Amino acid sequence: MPERIYNFSPGPGTLPQEVLTQAAKDIVNFNDKGIGLIELSHRSKEFMAVYAEAEAGVRELLEVPDNFKILFLQGGASTQFAMVPMNLLGKNQKGTYLNTGTWAKKAIKEANIIASAEVAYSAEDSMFNHVPRDSDYTVAADSEYLYFVSNNTIYGTQFKELPKSDKMLISDMSSDIMSRAIDFSKFGLIFAGAQKNMGPAGVTLVIVREDLLDRVADTVPTMLRYKTHAAKDSMFNTPPCFAMYCVGLVCKWLKANGGVAGMAKKNAEKAAILYDMIDSTPFYKGHAQKDSRSLMNVTFNLPTPELEVEFIKQGTERGLDGLKGHRSIGGCRASIYNAFPQQGVLDLVAFMQEFAKANS
Ligand SMILES: Cc1ncc(COP(=O)(O)O)c(C=O)c1O
Repeated sequence: MPERIYNFSPGPGTLPQEVLTQAAKDIVNFNDKGIGLIELSHRSKEFMAVYAEAEAGVRELLEVPDNFKILFLQGGASTQFAMVPMNLLGKNQKGTYLNTGTWAKKAIKEANIIASAEVAYSAEDSMFNHVPRDSDYTVAADSEYLYFVSNNTIYGTQFKELPKSDKMLISDMSSDIMSRAIDFSKFGLIFAGAQKNMGPAGVTLVIVREDLLDRVADTVPTMLRYKTHAAKDSMFNTPPCFAMYCVGLVCKWLKANGGVAGMAKKNAEKAAILYDMIDSTPFYKGHAQKDSRSLMNVTFNLPTPELEVEFIKQGTERGLDGLKGHRSIGGCRASIYNAFPQQGVLDLVAFMQEFAKANS
């Protein structure tokens, strides 16, 4: 097997080696039962145990209260952009949105197809280099919720605190779920695609307050109702079995590695090493304003686009993979999710120092 490279990709992203090794074994022969994991009927008692473990793992790690349902859905986080307003807004109702980047914009577009989105703040004019402060926006009195993207994967910005709102919060946590604790008392619903911090692509985690399930209108198709999936423990139809199994394994790994609090500490340390490097020389320039900096996706530029191309190329050659920034902003991006090892960050910083010296 070739040596493992450092994968700075924004997602699908790095998973724990232990999880990959266990999954590789179980795909062929699950629990030594003579049947592969991905051949198991989702109604079998073996798979029911896999589901129960994933559900319990998420509930325990995130301390999800009893009045919230945990759902494992398909369609990616992008389907949630529409499912949220479909399930929570009546035709003449509205949600308030904070436009902090591409993923927020896509959610706003869907909300406007289904009902109405009021954009209370937009950071677009400054290339989405920050998230708003509480004093920068007002949540409309007649809106049902405040929607925000907790971590903006493309621009490398992150809400450090929950945004202020007297309405319930809804959040797309696709790129920072399980990296810190969540105060569910403020939330109606959160969702996250698994493929960054929780597992492979193919499953989207939705955690929704139970009393909201009955809001859905009769006109919403069955598969697009949270209520449908909540009533059947995510088994209304064939669920994304393999991805759910992996989420369960990742939860176990997280628990053995300090849980969400332990991750938050490690993530802060890893990000500080990288941001300190960026701040130590004018050769690198961080994209995000300092108080909005993401602990998950570190975005930065070099003096010229040509140097960025060379930096990414040389990085790849040294086993530092996936450093290219998103096509909408260019530059470089190092995604350092929960399972990304600190040594990879140290190696990147060493390379950055060498590269700056050689090209200044
Ligand atoms: C914050 C955020 N939301 C939503 C998405 C879209 O997720 P999916 O590809 O699962 O639809 C992404 C993808 O990178 C993301 O980073």
